Amino acid sequence: MLAELVLNALVRCEAPARRLGYGRGAVSLWSRSRRCGRAWAPHHAATRDFVAGLLRDLPQKGGNAWVLGAGLLDDLPLDDLCRRFDRVILADIAFLPCMARRLRRYGNAEMRLFDATGIVAPLSRWQVAENLPLPAANALAGLDAAAPSLVLSLNLLSQLPLLPLAWLERQGVDHGTRQDYGRRIVAAHLAGLRDLACPVGLVSDFRRIFRNRAGEAVVAESALFDVTPPVAEREWSWALAPLGEIDGQTALDLRVLATRNLGRAA
Ligand SMILES: C[S@@+](CC[C@H](N)C(=O)[O-])C[C@H]1O[C@@H](n2cnc3c(N)ncnc32)[C@H](O)[C@@H]1O
Repeated sequence: MLAELVLNALVRCEAPARRLGYGRGAVSLWSRSRRCGRAWAPHHAATRDFVAGLLRDLPQKGGNAWVLGAGLLDDLPLDDLCRRFDRVILADIAFLPCMARRLRRYGNAEMRLFDATGIVAPLSRWQVAENLPLPAANALAGLDAAAPSLVLSLNLLSQLPLLPLAWLERQGVDHGTRQDYGRRIVAAHLAGLRDLACPVGLVSDFRRIFRNRAGEAVVAESALFDVTPPVAEREWSWALAPLGEIDGQTALDLRVLATRNLGRAA
C-alpha cells in the first residue's frame, strides 16, 4: 500500500493522461502483476516466444523497432530486440520509475511517453455537448520521425478504450455512446497497424470468460467491443484474475491471439 502511494507520485505520465487515471493504472498493473505473477507467467512466456519467432523470421537486421504498450516489459524479449535493431522505442502512456533503471544496460532502447490513440489529451479537455475527439488510424505516425522497421502492439488493443470510457462515464455519457466510442478506438488501432509499411506483430486478448468456483464458464463476451479480431496465428488462455482476485466466487480468463498478418508488408 505504501509502495503504491510512493509509486503513484513517481510514475511518469503526462498531466492529461494522469487526469484520466493512467498513472494509477500503471501502478495497479504493477501490483496485480506481483500478486498474479505465477498465473500470468505462461501468457508472458507465450507472448515473448511469439515475438522471438517473429524476429527470427525477419529478413534483415537494423532500423527502428517500436513496441506499443511496453508497460512493465514483462512480455518482451528485450535482449533479442536490442541485438536485432539499431533503436528500440518502448512506448507507453505511463511508465513506472524503475523501468528507466532496467533500461540502463541497453544503450539503444528508450522509453517514450506516447498515447497510441491520440484522444487522451483532447478528451481530458472535452466538455459535455462538444463532439468527442475521434480516434484516428494515423495516431501511430506521431511516435517518431524515423519510419519503423518493425511495430509490435503487445497486450494493448483491448486496454485502449478502458480509461477513456471510464472518464466518459464519469462525465455522464450514456452506455450506447460509450460502447460505440470503444469500438471506434479498437477499430482505429487495428486500421493504424494494417496501414503500416513494415512488419507488424499484434498480441491481444479478444474474449473474456468469467468462471465460477467450479471452473464453469458463466459469462463470455468480446474484449474488443465486438470488433472482429484479426485471424489468429496462435491462440492461448491468460488466467488474468484467478479466484480471489475479483472475489472468492469468480475467476476471469482471457483468450489471447497473436498474429503477424497485419500491415502492408504481410
Ligand atoms: C495489459 S498492459 C501490458 C503491458 C506490457 N505489455 C507488459 O506486459 O508488461 C497494457 C499497457 O497499455 C498501456 N496503455 C493503455 N492505454 C494506452 C494508450 N492510449 N497509449 C499507450 N499505452 C497505453 C498501459 O499503460 C499498460 O502498460
